[in-house]
Amino acid sequence: MTRTYAGTLDKQHANQAATIAGWVQKHRDFGELVFIDVRDRSGIVQVVVDRSKGASEELLAAAKELRSEYVVRIAGEVRERSEQTKNPKMPTGEVELIASSIELLSRSETPPFPIDDEVDAAEDLRLKYRYLDLRRPLLTRNLILRDRIAHGVRDYMHRQGFLEIETPILTKSTPEGARDYLVPSRVSKGNFYALPQSPQIFKQLLMVGGLDRYYQIARCFRDEDLRRDRQPEFTQIDIEASFIDEEFVFGLIEGMFAEVFPLAGIPITTPFPRMRWQEAMERFGIDRPDTRFGMELIDITAAARQLEFVPFREAETVRGIVVPGGAALSRKRIDDLTEEAKKLGASGLVWIKFDAQRGSSIKKFLDDAAFESVRDALQANEGDMALIVAGKTTRVWDVLGSLRLRVAKDQGLIPADRWDFLWVIDFPLFEWDEESGRFFARHHPFTSPRLADADKVESDPGATLARAYDVVMNGMELGGGSIRINTPELQSRMFRALGITDDEARERFGFLLEAFRYGAPPHGGVALGFDRMVMLMARAESLREVIAFPKTARAQDLMSEAPGRVDEKQLGELGIGIKG
Ligand code: AMO
Repeated sequence: MTRTYAGTLDKQHANQAATIAGWVQKHRDFGELVFIDVRDRSGIVQVVVDRSKGASEELLAAAKELRSEYVVRIAGEVRERSEQTKNPKMPTGEVELIASSIELLSRSETPPFPIDDEVDAAEDLRLKYRYLDLRRPLLTRNLILRDRIAHGVRDYMHRQGFLEIETPILTKSTPEGARDYLVPSRVSKGNFYALPQSPQIFKQLLMVGGLDRYYQIARCFRDEDLRRDRQPEFTQIDIEASFIDEEFVFGLIEGMFAEVFPLAGIPITTPFPRMRWQEAMERFGIDRPDTRFGMELIDITAAARQLEFVPFREAETVRGIVVPGGAALSRKRIDDLTEEAKKLGASGLVWIKFDAQRGSSIKKFLDDAAFESVRDALQANEGDMALIVAGKTTRVWDVLGSLRLRVAKDQGLIPADRWDFLWVIDFPLFEWDEESGRFFARHHPFTSPRLADADKVESDPGATLARAYDVVMNGMELGGGSIRINTPELQSRMFRALGITDDEARERFGFLLEAFRYGAPPHGGVALGFDRMVMLMARAESLREVIAFPKTARAQDLMSEAPGRVDEKQLGELGIGIKG
């Protein structure tokens, strides 16, 4: 008998035979009448066994034996429910299946938590029993959505003439800046593979290999601090193409998004706005601005210097954000924000309330004139509050950029159901690291400088802009990429600027440098965080809700208990001893 998915049954199936198979969601026994809700990946349908409507003794007995999460196959006839018994909350609520046979396929112990979207079981418990968690309609739906998006992406990329090509998992260290996961080699003891942080080098080598349009839905591995939008292994839609420029990449990704985001009811308007990195930092304090709301950073250095307040006079810059209606914020909330600002590295947080009391952390420096000039500079309205930070520009961006997001979230200033896509362009090629006192590649060392800046790579790295771009939505970095360097000379200069010696470069990326000597086409690409895209489309709060078997913030799999110990023999074969 062919199986019908339970969740697809509706009025059109009325008076037809159907067989469903799945798990018992709920079981209600009224003596001569038993209701069984049966769940499969498509949804839930109500099954009825009713003695008064001709169900046999055996059938009733079989129905009574069922418990939650038992696996059953049930055949019967679909019947439209009477008006009073229709359940508008259930997609299948207009019908029920009148059972004619019930086959018990497998029993279940009482699950450690009920299989229900409303479950409030601790996440650790759900992760330990992930296979049960996956039965919850929400997670099932997310994985179905994930499949649809992956399928949509493949279909689109295929139509654009891209080839899906797999790159190695056992490979050498790649240059994305996180720590590598290492795999010891048994055959050459003391040597290690690294799991790829991205297929970056291989996709560039594919370009040298003439396979001019590559993509892959690729697994990447990074040993870094985890957050709700970061997993140690994650998936990228990784793309590279030859003989192209930035505009090609923008058009390609906008076209892809225009196809896949509507699968989740998210409208796409193309082209996406573009914002220079410098502008993003000045206005939002962050290189992935959330443009759904205002509260932008305002430079009030000139007005602030007029005050007798020394930190303002001595600071490189003084900037503020205006919280609409913020004058109503309690002292406790303001103290929390001050604490947060300090944690982010600010020496302090100045606040001013624009109301009758004119409360402020620097009240004694604010005579009427000063108060008005700061209000003017900030264009604050009555009832607003300003949060002001003074200091080094980059630090001030950082602190206010974070506070802006936090306050907007707490105050409910972020409009729901708005989807702001944008490209951030014109990134600096390098980033100065205070601690080590040297420059780092902001993206990776294969990113091309802007043609006009190529001469500055070594002489003035800080002023060199990159041919790099990020695609951002609602303040989340969805992807990033660049046009690459394709000559060995420029690549060597880039390494020198980064303080990577020729020997080191040869040791780490020698094969790529060598490849560039044999005719490397101009090329570039991008990688999109696939899990992040699915998370946004699923309206989920964490990547864990869109990955079948995710890891915890400590990079553990609570179900399989990975990472785990290995026995001495295995370690011995690898030539490895554990210290301590
Ligand atoms: P990048 O490092 O920016 O670029 O990564 C691309 C995108 O991958 C996603 N991402 C992650 N998602 C989940 N968990 C993580 N730990 C994680 N880290 C990154 C983000 C990010 O935007 N090779 C370059 C791309 C290129 O230049 O073509 C790269 O990997 O959404």
